[in-house]
Amino acid sequence: MRRSRFIVVSNRLPYVFKRTARGWRAEAGSGGLVTALLPVLRDRGGTWIGWPGASGAAREFKPALAAAGAKAGYTLVPVPLTEEELGNFYHGFSNEVIWPLFHDLPSFCNFDPQYWRSYRAVNAKYARAVHARASAGDFVWVHDYHLMTLAAELRRLGSRARLAFFLHIPFPAPDIFLKLPWREPLLHALMEFDLLGFQTPRDRRNFVACLQTLEPGVKLEGRGAAVRLGTRAVRIGAFPISIDYNAFLRRAAAVDVAAKARELHRLLPKRKLMLGVDRLDYTKGITLRLKAFETLLERYPDLRGRVSLLQVVVPSREDIAQYGRMKTEIEQLAGRINGAFARPGGWVPVWYEYRSLSRLELLAYYRAADIALITPLKDGMNLVAKEYCACSIEEDCVLILSEFAGAAAQLSGGALLVNPFDVEAVAEAIRDAVLMPEAERLARMRRLRRAVRRQDVFWWVDCFLRAAVARDLRSFAPARRAGEASAAPAALPL
Ligand code: ADP
Ligand code: F6P
Repeated sequence: MRRSRFIVVSNRLPYVFKRTARGWRAEAGSGGLVTALLPVLRDRGGTWIGWPGASGAAREFKPALAAAGAKAGYTLVPVPLTEEELGNFYHGFSNEVIWPLFHDLPSFCNFDPQYWRSYRAVNAKYARAVHARASAGDFVWVHDYHLMTLAAELRRLGSRARLAFFLHIPFPAPDIFLKLPWREPLLHALMEFDLLGFQTPRDRRNFVACLQTLEPGVKLEGRGAAVRLGTRAVRIGAFPISIDYNAFLRRAAAVDVAAKARELHRLLPKRKLMLGVDRLDYTKGITLRLKAFETLLERYPDLRGRVSLLQVVVPSREDIAQYGRMKTEIEQLAGRINGAFARPGGWVPVWYEYRSLSRLELLAYYRAADIALITPLKDGMNLVAKEYCACSIEEDCVLILSEFAGAAAQLSGGALLVNPFDVEAVAEAIRDAVLMPEAERLARMRRLRRAVRRQDVFWWVDCFLRAAVARDLRSFAPARRAGEASAAPAALPL
């Protein structure tokens, strides 16, 4: 019997192909999806289908693509997108409708009907690319909000592959979701998958609540492990995504990373180093975070000179107006704080970097940071929080984390959880972190690292695939508590 193929589909491939003077070059992509899936594909092999991040003709960078795939150990299949598709599908429907709506920011949405038409058309394009490679019984795992109507398009093409979907971002509650003009067709399209995976039990519950609101005939089966609508029964579950803990740990322990971390402390001596690392995104709460730090310095003059915020912002989606406006706001705020508190020739409160760090730099920043300040207004998971824990080898540091990050469900045992909208409470949490006794720092970080180590990305992928293949629905009844996943251990026939 032929072993079924493992095919991953996401909007982006894990590499961005860029034209240079010496031809096309593959650069590693950023973002949580790539970080999580890279080790999975490296481990299992298979095929990854997605947009190569360049709008040139696919044949131009084919050699670079094949070389990157050969080196990585799996096949990369490009889906080229035109400028018009990028505008309406990627920047438009994906990032001006679904992204803000699913992060509870409906006022940021631009519900342009042309965006929806393009979204359907581009999903159909991805479906054709998948259908050309996926036979009956193959396992097709579709990722994230760009491709929510892909299964419906594949069914139209007559695909008999097994179709699973994982949503990396949150799923909103009905009062938000119902604002979407295309709410019914979108939910019906999602119901064409065989398995739907969400980050947290809350996201799963929100999905069910939206379905029940729009389709009163929907029924839960197998203690909530599936939803039935007419003849279709779709498995649903919560599967908190994670990182390759051991790989981060190994790399962070290397001498070059340790040397760079020491260098950072030499450059910024005699103070606590507090780190923020985020893609440029209004969901990451960077401006409120800066205001919280400003509040701390206003309230507690004795802490001036004793703590610096190193804020790294990774360029992202710069063609969307809100992102550009936010960048300006961050720069103005950092300038205002430094203008008010910096000391000539000495301490500077905010070190702001707007660039993509190399892996070495990122890990050195994690290792050097005494405090990580991660305060998204809403986040599907937030892998930076987990990476910080994995890289904190000395364990003598503190994680301050937003209660609205998906990761809060698993990391509440050791992190200082904060409401990112409450700048005074965040300022107090920073103070608590700066003054926290060593024994408490060590105990908390030890708990955090244990949680991330136990539920790493391989645990996540196993839970998901088990839910996909389980014969008995009862064997993966939905996780109800924070930090649980929906699948029970079983042999994996994939
Ligand atoms: P999101 O997916 O919304 O960007 P996450 O925190 O889940 O948020 O994931 C961000 C990912 O991007 C992390 O895995 C992090 O290591 C990675 N990353 C952060 N900074 C950089 C950078 N400068 N270059 C490449 N990847 C980065
Ligand atoms: O994790 C959310 C996410 O949107 C991923 O899907 C994506 O890879 C990442 O953030 C980066 O965003 P983009 O692909 O738009 O640059």
